[in-house]
Amino acid sequence: MCGIIGYLGDDEALSVVTAGLANLEYRGYDSAGVALGDTELTVYKRAGEVDALTEILPESTSHTRGIGHTRWSTHGPPTDANAHPHTDEAGRVAVVHNGIIENYEQLRERLSDRTFTSETDTEVIPHLIAAELDAGKSPKEAVKAAAAQLEGSYAIVVTIAGVDSLFAIREGSPLIIGHAENGTFLGSDVTAFLDHTQQVTYLADGDLAVIDRDGLSVYRNGELVDVAVEELDWEADAAEKGGYDHYMRKEIHEQPRALRQTISGRLDTDRGRVALDIDLPTEYLESLEEIQLVACGTSYYASVYAADLFESLADVRTTVEVASEYEFSTNRDPWRTLVVAVTQSGETADTLSAIRTAARAGARTLAVTNTLGSTITREVDDTVFIRAGPEIGVAATKTFASQVATLALLVVLVGRKRGALSSERATSVLDSLRGLPGAVQQILDREDTVLETAETYADSDAFFFIGRRLGRAVSLEGALKLKEISYDHAEGFPAGELKHGPLALVTENTPVLAVLTDGARPEATLPNVREVQARDAPVIGAVSDTEASALDVTFPVPDLGVMEPLVTNVYWQLFAYHVANLKGRSIDKPRNLAKSVTVE
Ligand code: G6P
Repeated sequence: MCGIIGYLGDDEALSVVTAGLANLEYRGYDSAGVALGDTELTVYKRAGEVDALTEILPESTSHTRGIGHTRWSTHGPPTDANAHPHTDEAGRVAVVHNGIIENYEQLRERLSDRTFTSETDTEVIPHLIAAELDAGKSPKEAVKAAAAQLEGSYAIVVTIAGVDSLFAIREGSPLIIGHAENGTFLGSDVTAFLDHTQQVTYLADGDLAVIDRDGLSVYRNGELVDVAVEELDWEADAAEKGGYDHYMRKEIHEQPRALRQTISGRLDTDRGRVALDIDLPTEYLESLEEIQLVACGTSYYASVYAADLFESLADVRTTVEVASEYEFSTNRDPWRTLVVAVTQSGETADTLSAIRTAARAGARTLAVTNTLGSTITREVDDTVFIRAGPEIGVAATKTFASQVATLALLVVLVGRKRGALSSERATSVLDSLRGLPGAVQQILDREDTVLETAETYADSDAFFFIGRRLGRAVSLEGALKLKEISYDHAEGFPAGELKHGPLALVTENTPVLAVLTDGARPEATLPNVREVQARDAPVIGAVSDTEASALDVTFPVPDLGVMEPLVTNVYWQLFAYHVANLKGRSIDKPRNLAKSVTVE
């Protein structure tokens, strides 16, 4: 989705802003632009990648103030004219915007004496600001008055000719300030300026920020307020490729480290307990009737995995809802329902909307997210961070593993407090979690075998992923990963369901990838494997008991109880990666997809 970078400081803004745009590319976009200047502004913008924009940029400029944007089209196709920044007629005000202005048509009508040059909802904003400046308002008051007329969600950064400041305002879309020796930064997420600083301020909805040569001032309800500066604990190189061809491959390989961070300091294996620093009172959990997990995409499949664990280990009815379909049913008791939003970014519009629905109904809400300061953390009663570190590849990998591990910790916490989980059983789950980083490393060490398998099967007609219970979640996620980045047809099924329809598609040219590990009922899945083998389909199986195989390819999985299917997922990630790579796909930025989908 769209990305924002803004800079005012001592360095040349052009290079800072273009580097910021490159860092934002991972979010998914289809055009890009920058606005630079002091007494006069110049806008450069272009459909296509940042590289295309770079062709029309000057080599250097003397400007030390600039804004930039990567656009993911919503209103109007990806053309040069629709790319941001947008300006007023005189080119005095330039604006970049994330989000959607819902009342832009009415505003355009109101501004009908002005000439518009794009089809975007955004373009009303510079015109509104210019109108307020024409009416005699100060730049800050003009930005505020313009924003007051907007309905919808937005993060906006404004530069005005002849005014040595940047102005920013947010409502519903994230905007983060970075503080560094060489100046002040604005970003839609911290990766925009992570090369420069880890000192950040998160703006709240409604905040108006003014950045000038003295730094940052934030106005809330018209009053100047003190804002906190927080220190990120992300390593400076965390958002770089570090020698890998693709972020996705790097992030797959970072999973052992990410998982160690996820569980660090949270396990008390001896007593079978976990520490998560959240407020879920025992009496509340004892009376709990249902947990609802709401999520999208990969986070949804992490939730499918966790739902099985909640039901089997914490003895609580657990439903998983695609966030965009979520409704709070009137036959549920909100006081006895815990709604957990699972979202890597913490910014997914569908998930935010679902959690608002739950909160309105009176349910207690919890977020499981990777992103400090993200919108979801402000909307829920409590948050558990998955601590996976920044994930740049659009296809989620390490965050899936860390989400499942975090949710498993929550399962143990809930199960123990409800008295449903014995300390022995809890200890065995925690042992599995503790063994996870090492087990994942063993799979990563076998990457060559996965590459060979990918070479053998890359040109197949389609791919089917099957598994039961926890293996079903991993099959759904495995198929999603493969289709996202290879553009091949891939589907995941509960293994027993294959014979009720999808089997018609199975041929000698449709490999079937089967989860045959503990936690995935291998004894029940093996007959389904034999069914597809009888139709000549090659079978690639992840197995913990290699004797049970007779498969075309056998991937061994170490003994790890309920975490074995999660370990299997690493094979599926590597398989998807190598199939896509052999086909030369755009792995980190698959066509049509965005890392963080901030529209419903
Ligand atoms: C987008 C991404 C997916 C991701 C989903 C949910 O569709 O392309 O990779 O799983 O959003 O994102 P979230 O940040 O809420 O986990």
